[in-house]
Amino acid sequence: MRFEGKSAVVTGAASGIGLAVAQRLAAEGARVVIGDRNVEGLEAAAASIGDAATPMPLDVADEASCNAIVAKAVELHGGLDVLCNIAGVLDFGRVADLDKTRWDRVVTINLTGTYLMARAALPHLVARRGTIVNMASAAGLVGIPFNSAYTASKHGVVGLTKALALEFSKEGVRVNCVCPTGVKTPMVAAAPPENIDWELVMRAAPWLDGGEQCDPEDIADAVAFLASHEAKRITGIAFPVDGGQTAG
Ligand SMILES: NC(=O)c1ccc[n+]([C@@H]2O[C@H](COP(=O)([O-])OP(=O)(O)OC[C@H]3O[C@@H](n4cnc5c(N)ncnc54)[C@H](O)[C@@H]3O)[C@@H](O)[C@H]2O)c1
Repeated sequence: MRFEGKSAVVTGAASGIGLAVAQRLAAEGARVVIGDRNVEGLEAAAASIGDAATPMPLDVADEASCNAIVAKAVELHGGLDVLCNIAGVLDFGRVADLDKTRWDRVVTINLTGTYLMARAALPHLVARRGTIVNMASAAGLVGIPFNSAYTASKHGVVGLTKALALEFSKEGVRVNCVCPTGVKTPMVAAAPPENIDWELVMRAAPWLDGGEQCDPEDIADAVAFLASHEAKRITGIAFPVDGGQTAG
């Protein structure tokens, strides 16, 4: 029960890793406001968790929406201890096919959304010496071909994590991120475009073909550890959960 009495917000909680994280924090005692733009999935997620969860529609690309979910957690639970920024999107394709609309969508949700949520939450986290766990990716540590917007956005999440960790170090707020390899979620279930060199992708990301993929709960283990008191000396890290994919 590492999160007994704690107030948490989890984004992207309607599916996959975000759902597993929200379930884990609630199972360990947290009261969790869960956000996602998939409202139907969010209701199902809240039902799977029970009284500890409050669902709230969220678009992390929208500043007012980010401010509103943080305000809801503070109103309901008297403050905020833990923010888990898990929402994200993936968009494989040749860079020539990746027009600015597609680029902006990925970077805005994955990177700007992480910044907007952190910015809304930080005054409250400072008040409680709370913590942020961001969701980066193995693609935040190494390049994945034909995945340029996603790779750039996740490298950005790693950089943002480190900058915020230093900026808030004297105020007792820890900021870390997790860098998973492939995880069995709807995000990686879609077939890739036919005009990309999949063999080249496989060299950088062999897990994408189904080998060594993690379960969402494996990633929730790492997020919960970093969010917990057990990680009280850890801040500013990009924590790979990748079976060694990025080790060398
Ligand atoms: N699945 C993997 O292999 C893998 C690997 C490394 C990192 N990640 C990262 O983990 C995170 C979760 O991904 P997942 O695999 O669980 O995918 P998923 O598609 O199952 O879940 C992503 C969730 O984010 C939500 N979302 C998307 N855009 C949003 C927005 N603008 N506002 C609010 N919610 C939004 C979706 O509705 C969905 O519920 C992402 O940041 C992803 O980049 C996933």
